[in-house]
Amino acid sequence: MSFLEYAPAPESRAVLSLKPEYGLFIDGDFRSGSGESFATISPADEKHIATIASASDADVDAAVGAARRAFDKTWSKMSGRDRGKYLFRIARLVQERARELAVAESLDNGKPIKESRDVDVPLVAAWFFYYAGWADKLDYAGLGADPKPLGVAGQVIPWNFPLLMLAWKIAPALAAGNTVVIKPAETTPLSALIFAEILQQADLPPGVVNIVTGAGPTGAAIVRHPDVDKVAFTGSTGVGREIAKSVAGTDKKLTLELGGKAANIVFEDAPIDQAIEGIVNGIFFNQGHVCCAGSRLLVQESVHDEVVDRLKTRLSTLRLGDPLDKNTDIGAINSREQLERIRELSRIGEEEGAERWSADCVIPDNGFWFAPTIFTNVQASHRIARDEIFGPVLSVLTFRTPAEAIEKANNTPYGLSAGIWTDKGSRILAVADRLRAGVVWANTFNRFDPSSPFGGYKESGYGREGGRHGLAAYLKGARA
Ligand code: NAI
Ligand code: MG
Repeated sequence: MSFLEYAPAPESRAVLSLKPEYGLFIDGDFRSGSGESFATISPADEKHIATIASASDADVDAAVGAARRAFDKTWSKMSGRDRGKYLFRIARLVQERARELAVAESLDNGKPIKESRDVDVPLVAAWFFYYAGWADKLDYAGLGADPKPLGVAGQVIPWNFPLLMLAWKIAPALAAGNTVVIKPAETTPLSALIFAEILQQADLPPGVVNIVTGAGPTGAAIVRHPDVDKVAFTGSTGVGREIAKSVAGTDKKLTLELGGKAANIVFEDAPIDQAIEGIVNGIFFNQGHVCCAGSRLLVQESVHDEVVDRLKTRLSTLRLGDPLDKNTDIGAINSREQLERIRELSRIGEEEGAERWSADCVIPDNGFWFAPTIFTNVQASHRIARDEIFGPVLSVLTFRTPAEAIEKANNTPYGLSAGIWTDKGSRILAVADRLRAGVVWANTFNRFDPSSPFGGYKESGYGREGGRHGLAAYLKGARA
């Protein structure tokens, strides 16, 4: 392959005015944490970005206390119309500070700026706008007459879409009248802390949203706190299981959004060029750090060779490198731990007999990187066909008939998403109907909209986020 060479086009960091140190955001103000503080780094060059406070059990208790007072005294007493005004204000401030948030997100997470700028941050604003609209219309959501909030929501989120997951959690909780204690992931706290400044700018009453940073133990302290009424978690299936145990036997409501191993099914009559773009977007978007990623390509045998050839050609044109460069397609892997996990599963893939191909790209000296990779000759029993790799690695399997495609697609412990590529509308409907997956995309992949519910079956978790359904998780007695 020969490339057109692009000159570097880095987005300016000048829009960021980062503090060297960030505290915990509790009761409307930043305060220091009593745990041992930690550094957040850029995964693209391993350079230090800022020092972050770590919340101890006592700090979490203070955050929950602030959330409880805010719930009792202000937020649950406020009219839905007034709550909505705050949410609209937050949405507009996110838009105003969009560039700054995008740069912070790419710096801290490693995702390409074109994704944080064009996908993550616009969706964050969209989520707040959408739920702002619901705040004064809860009576009409079909979730019971005069529905009531639960109280204090404890929320723990992952590092793959730091700000977007924060929006998915906070927007419906506040619209429904709950107050929040939320913990961003330890490798990506930065955008949440800038978001805390936005809450101050929006004059949100103190304590309505509390943002506590820290690692797993801080998350566990939120989950088991007796005064938390609702737990919402997005992350690994392993931690999700621990959380389900911790909450069992209490009155806490729980929603879990866990892993996935989605089938992206390509029939021989599919528009192949379009499907190639969809496959690429399905698994190489956000370095494959996507719970609903199309990580298993199921391709009809008759078009297998053509699809794989074209895919390799397309992958050879992707540009891997500086996340802040506007021409970058593939950014950095979020952490060394995640890189090790991807390497290990890929090694097992080779060992089990699948055939590995990686795009020939120049890997920077520092930071965490993994070239876009395809495995062919994958058997349904291979680890790389069963385990979530959560990286830029695609496993290709084949099928002959629609029935076989459906059986293979459903042959997974997960059930979060799936994709179907075909020219026939009737086939889309017939196949989608039989896939055990929360979201099924047809002739597209990885599309998100705040009005559309999202969530999984089986080990992908339970509960729905987004849309009217997403409100149910934050209202008493409500089932969407
Ligand atoms: P993780 O589940 O450990 O981390 C997610 C969040 O949970 C982080 O904020 C973390 O601090 C917190 N946490 C960790 N232990 C906790 C505990 N005992 N109680 C409460 N909170 C806790 O995920 P990790 O280790 O970063 O990634 C491992 C794998 O999980 C990935 O390779 C991927 O397969 C999957 N994953 C799935 C995500 C999704 O979107 N569904 C997001 C992140 C990871
Ligand atoms: Mg970081």
